[in-house]
Amino acid sequence: MNKILFYGGGNIAQAIISGLLSAGFNKKLISFVDRNDSNRSKLSELGIKERNLKDKIDLVILCVKPKDISLALKEISSGFNNPKVLSLVAGVSSRKYLTAVHNIKLIRGMPNTSSEFRMGITALLNINASKKLYKDTKTLFKLVGITLDLKSENQINDFTGLIGSGPAYFFYILKSYEKLLLKMADGDESLVKSIMANLMNGVGESVKGKESLDELISAVASKKGTTEAGINSMKSEKITVSFNRSLKAAMKRAKEIADES
Ligand SMILES: NC(=O)c1ccc[n+]([C@@H]2O[C@H](COP(=O)([O-])OP(=O)(O)OC[C@H]3O[C@@H](n4cnc5c(N)ncnc54)[C@H](OP(=O)(O)O)[C@@H]3O)[C@@H](O)[C@H]2O)c1
Repeated sequence: MNKILFYGGGNIAQAIISGLLSAGFNKKLISFVDRNDSNRSKLSELGIKERNLKDKIDLVILCVKPKDISLALKEISSGFNNPKVLSLVAGVSSRKYLTAVHNIKLIRGMPNTSSEFRMGITALLNINASKKLYKDTKTLFKLVGITLDLKSENQINDFTGLIGSGPAYFFYILKSYEKLLLKMADGDESLVKSIMANLMNGVGESVKGKESLDELISAVASKKGTTEAGINSMKSEKITVSFNRSLKAAMKRAKEIADES
């Protein structure tokens, strides 16, 4: 991939750009378009330049909110010839892009903010791009984490609810830990953050191993011990049932947004 342009330089663009830079991707090959002063200055602090109209762009990475898609497509339509676009926008189906932009070559993608630490998970779906463009896009996103090939737009909606939103579910769960740990650590926020990070990182390393999740639980729990008490309470509260319901609600919402667009 030569030159890439982020159209919309907010949260997800900044996460991906930070990940690319720490992977050694040349910042001179990245540029952006954004109307928000705060995001523009964050990107310029990272050393990323605004779009130079003379540059030939190999891939436009579209990162605006779904509500801003119509204007962005209008601008892309008038500002680029035969644009090659990777859209990271949730819930806007390919029909809209193909209708709005003449000769667009489109890939849809769904990343998450862990790309910032090169621990991202990006699902990709080739709509009508060449095999080469798809392969190059995949190679680019492998620099910031793992990639997954999807086969249909419905799968993108499910992936949005599960993984795009995924980090937020764990941040939410960690709020319970934070509250209890702060008391134990005399309000030392930085220590509590480190404890939570080690807890999550350790869990992450464990799930990569060959043991199943049940085996990992058994390795921590002992008969009539504290873990068993905690897990039994989770079982009687039907935590997995309600967590499953929450994941389904997010997947359902992603589909509704897609249907509305
Ligand atoms: N954040 C995530 O974790 C995540 C994960 C997966 C996918 N996504 C997808 O990524 C997209 C962006 O999300 P985000 O959280 O990065 O949003 P964001 O932080 O609001 O960033 C979007 C940026 O694009 C700018 N913008 C919008 N329309 C523009 C236009 N026509 N010309 C120039 N700049 C424009 C916005 O400016 P204003 O602030 O002035 O509107 C804002 O600076 C969404 O569609 C979302 O579904 C996000």
